[in-house]
Amino acid sequence: MQLPFTPQLPVRTDRLILREFRPGDVDALLPFHSDPGNVLYVPFNARTPEEMQVALERKIAGTSIAADGDHLDLAVTLQDGTLVGDLVTFVHALEHGTVEVGWIFDPAHGGRGYATEAVRAMLHLVFTGLQARRAVARVDERNTASRRLCERLGMRQEAHLVENEVFKGGLSSEIDFALLSREWPATATQSV
Ligand SMILES: CC(C)(COP(=O)(O)OP(=O)(O)OC[C@H]1O[C@@H](n2cnc3c(N)ncnc32)[C@H](O)[C@@H]1OP(=O)(O)O)[C@@H](O)C(=O)NCCC(=O)NCCS
Repeated sequence: MQLPFTPQLPVRTDRLILREFRPGDVDALLPFHSDPGNVLYVPFNARTPEEMQVALERKIAGTSIAADGDHLDLAVTLQDGTLVGDLVTFVHALEHGTVEVGWIFDPAHGGRGYATEAVRAMLHLVFTGLQARRAVARVDERNTASRRLCERLGMRQEAHLVENEVFKGGLSSEIDFALLSREWPATATQSV
């Protein structure tokens, strides 16, 4: 990987802007981070304003990747500045050249392809800027919207882990998706 990696922001796509998080983003993040239906399959519970503030401080700090455990956080906005989504890239162990990607978007702006467009731009950063070898997404089996998102992006389903975790009070099964950097050029150019 190309380290340290600090992306040149903002990144612009046809309809979106990917930028760093700012202190003022708390009010826009809270509605979709506090919505119980929107956090069913993410690793946190519906956030209170105080919890959102703490989480935002971590996102603001997530500006570069240089060491194991680092994360890169990106706010996704429309051209008019409306914040519609939240992206993260984690690196668990640099030696493997692998990143894990995650997302949560505001359902008020769902169903328009914004998440697909934004995650595609993040994967482009991961493969061409950071020069990661492999990107993975770990998706709850019940999370059909995220499974479709991975499929639209050309990610390969590699595993179906049956009842592999106790998650939010019950057993959950996980679908693992992945993409290699050499597979990226073919998928990068597909329409949203
Ligand atoms: C996962 C999540 C981001 C997907 O949101 P989404 O709105 O389905 O995704 P997109 O913004 O890419 O929109 C795609 C949908 O818009 C439709 N669409 C409409 N206009 C479109 C356009 N111009 N371009 C592309 N897609 C368009 C697509 O057909 C697709 O619908 P479908 O899935 O019914 O086929 C969202 O459900 C979410 O934030 N969930 C909660 C957090 C979460 O679970 N995170 C994952 C943890 S692993």
